[in-house]
This record gives sequence, C-alpha cells and structure tokens, in this order.
Amino acid sequence: MRLSVIGCGYLGAVHAAAMAAIGHDVVGVDVDSARIETLAAGHPPFFEPGLEELIGEGVASGRLQFTTDLKAVRGAAVHFVAVNTPQVKDGYAADLTYVNAAVQGLLPFLSPGDLVAGKSTVPVGTAATLAERVTPTGATLVWNPEFLREGWAVQDTIDPDRLVAGVPAGEEGERAADILREVYHPSIAKNTPFIVTDYATAELVKVSANAFLATKISFINAMAEIAEVTGADVTTLADAIGHDARIGRRFLGAGIGFGGGCLPKDIRAFSARAEELGRGESVVFLREVDAINLRRRDRAVDLVVTALGGSVFKKNVTVLGAAFKPHSDDIRDSPALDVAVRLHGLGAWVTLTDPEAIENARRIHPQLNYVEDRDEALRGADAVIVVTEWDEYRRELSPEHASTLASGRIIVDGRNCLDAAAWRAAGWEYYGMGRP
Ligand code: UDX
Repeated sequence: MRLSVIGCGYLGAVHAAAMAAIGHDVVGVDVDSARIETLAAGHPPFFEPGLEELIGEGVASGRLQFTTDLKAVRGAAVHFVAVNTPQVKDGYAADLTYVNAAVQGLLPFLSPGDLVAGKSTVPVGTAATLAERVTPTGATLVWNPEFLREGWAVQDTIDPDRLVAGVPAGEEGERAADILREVYHPSIAKNTPFIVTDYATAELVKVSANAFLATKISFINAMAEIAEVTGADVTTLADAIGHDARIGRRFLGAGIGFGGGCLPKDIRAFSARAEELGRGESVVFLREVDAINLRRRDRAVDLVVTALGGSVFKKNVTVLGAAFKPHSDDIRDSPALDVAVRLHGLGAWVTLTDPEAIENARRIHPQLNYVEDRDEALRGADAVIVVTEWDEYRRELSPEHASTLASGRIIVDGRNCLDAAAWRAAGWEYYGMGRP
C-alpha cells in the first residue's frame, strides 16, 4: 500500500520506517528540513535501537522517502498523523496546534476513499471535531493510537501487543477498519488483537493506558515514602506483591519516577480534559500521581545533600544518566536531568555523563559539565548518583572499579538498580530510594 506519515519525530519516523519494513511504500513529511535531510540520507535524527538499520534499508530500497513537501502525500491510501501534542505553556491541556495544522494541511491533497489515521495522543473528543473537516473531502478519519515505548519503539511498532481503531459508525467505519487491517496485515496474521471501536473509546484507550502506568509507578513510589520512615525495603515489597499475577511486577520500579515526552504531559492533559467535561473529580487522583512523582526528585536531591553532610556546595557530584530512561537519548521532562540541574543549583560541581543523551542535555542545560567517558566522569567524585539505569552503570560498573576513580564513597541509587550489598561490601555508603 502507499502510505504517508505526517510528523517524523519519535513516533512518526519509527512508524514510517516500520511500515516500509513490512512492505508498504511510505512517504514521511515534516516541516523540519534538517530532520528530513537526515532521514532522507538514511539516518534517524535521534537514538532508537534498531532504527538506523530500518531507515537505512527502507531508503535504500526506495520504499521509504522523506520530504518537507506535503504535496507528496497525494496518492497515498492512508495518511498517518503522528505530530506531537505537547503541554500548553500556560496550563495542563494538550496543545493541538500541530494536529490541527497537519489535518488542515492534508485536506487539499485527499481523495475520496482515503483514510486519515490519527496516531497522536489527543484529548477525548478531538477526533470527532477533526472528522467534521475531513468528511467533506470524501476521505474518512480514523483514530489509531500508538503505544510504542521509546527504546523498544521498532519492536513495539512491528509487533504491537494490540491494535486499536476508532472508526465512524456504519459501513464507512467497517470499510475504514478493513483498510487498517490491510495496513497491519503482518501483525494481524500473528493474532495481534485488533480492536475496532468508536473515536472516543480509541482516544481514551491511549490516555487511560498511560494514566494507569503512571499510577502504578507513583503507587510504588508512595510505598517507597512509607518504607523510608519505617525501615522497610520497597524493592522486596515490589517483588513480593508483584508475584500476585493480578498486580504484576512490571512498572513497580521505585526510584526518581517517570518522565519523558508522554506520561507526565498525558496525565495532565487527561485531568484538564476531564475538568472540561465536568468530570474532574473522576481523575483527581492523577494530581496525586503527579505530585508523588515530582516529590521523588526532591528526595533524590535530599539524599545527596544529607550524605554529603548537609550541603553540596563546592562538592564534586557525578551524575550517571541524563535520559529519562535507558536505551533513549530523550531528555524531555527527564527526572535524571532535573536532579542534576537541581544539584548544580545548590552549588555542587556537577559532572554528568550518559551514553546517548549528552548532546541533547547540553543544548538545554549548557551550565553542567558533560563528560562522555564514564570513568572520566567518576574521577574525583565526592558523591555519585545513578539516575538512569543504563547497563553501563547498573551491570558494568563494579564498586571496586568505582573506588579506584572516585574520591568519596557515597553512592545514591536513584533507580534502585544497583546491588546494595556489593557496594556496601566494597566500602561505599549506599543510599537507595525507599530502601534502608
Ligand atoms: C510510555 C508508554 O509506556 C507507552 O506505551 C506510550 O506509548 C508512551 O509513553 P515511554 O514514555 O517510552 O512510553 O516510557 P516508559 O517505558 O513507559 O517509561 C516512562 C517513565 O517511567 C520513564 O522515566 C521510566 O524511567 C519510568 N519508570 C518506568 C519508572 O520510574 N518505574 C518503572 O517501573 C517503569
């Protein structure tokens, strides 16, 4: 099939490349000419495992093209809208400027029978409004939310755990669902659930999934706060409750909490939308979820300050990690980078390292000292804090080796990812999040 993808960021670039990889002819469009140039040369504009190969192969085969010229979408059977919906500058709502502009821009190039498939995360009710603009062209609007996780985006797109299609009622909707089935044929042939529903449900599936995940993380971080005043160990607690299949161990990792381009802004946009709908009270708990999450960053900073005797002023603090999670160079709303910046603000000499995210971090926080090499970054540290659980810090850094580099023996484990006993045995003062 011939497909177009509008917006070539973390979502769109992966979607375009994955669709080409499963055999479609794809054109990706973005307004950012530098990004398009990189993609058209066969390279991803950001770090995502497996994406370099996928884009390289797609571009070389001629089945994957990138352009800034929206006209190129003409002739595609399905037009995916994958632009971002950031938080507005003056509130919690989602900024729909880019989604509205993408759909408006598409209108002159649509042919009767085309599908416009929204993938962006939007407040419930958006699709119905956009459909009013798309329908007069003879095309059909569908909402087809995306659940990819950064770091696993290629796998999640090619082999998703479910597909959701929000379609209009009646025959038009059935036909639209059939076209999407054709697009995702390889996944559906592997028995991936394909759920056909209305617009509102499809939109809500996405925001409620993210709200649930955020709630799960904040739940365990709330338990960490209780553990901190009782001497309990939240990691053992998570293991124990996680054995209950109804609860499950995934997303019960206590630490400095969630960040990134999705979870934080999505729970806020959900609250804002619920209030507009007169149902603010239904998701009022999301405010607590947000507050618990943000408190954990304060806690991590406090642990470093306390461990260093009450002040970090003129102390060398090495921060291991900047990305909001490992296998990503994304620093949007990164708790890791936030902790580093706060320590700097308290007068610490912060040295920060990360396997992939230094360039992005330096662009928005040039005041920090960035060092590429992990061991170089550790040299002379009075205290070390792990804030992104890259294997380079979690598995590959032994406390014995760290002892040959750092001056102090203080390690704060902001992700509860280190072997506390091993670090203590090597003479380090170990501080976890919700661990004794
Ligand atoms: C999320 C959703 O998982 C995905 O389905 C959706 O499409 C987009 O938003 P992503 O933002 O890539 O994906 O990251 P995710 O893996 O969900 O992690 C989010 C944050 O939660 C990270 O900062 C991570 O470090 C943190 N986290 C995750 C925890 O603090 N504890 C955990 O147990 C798990």
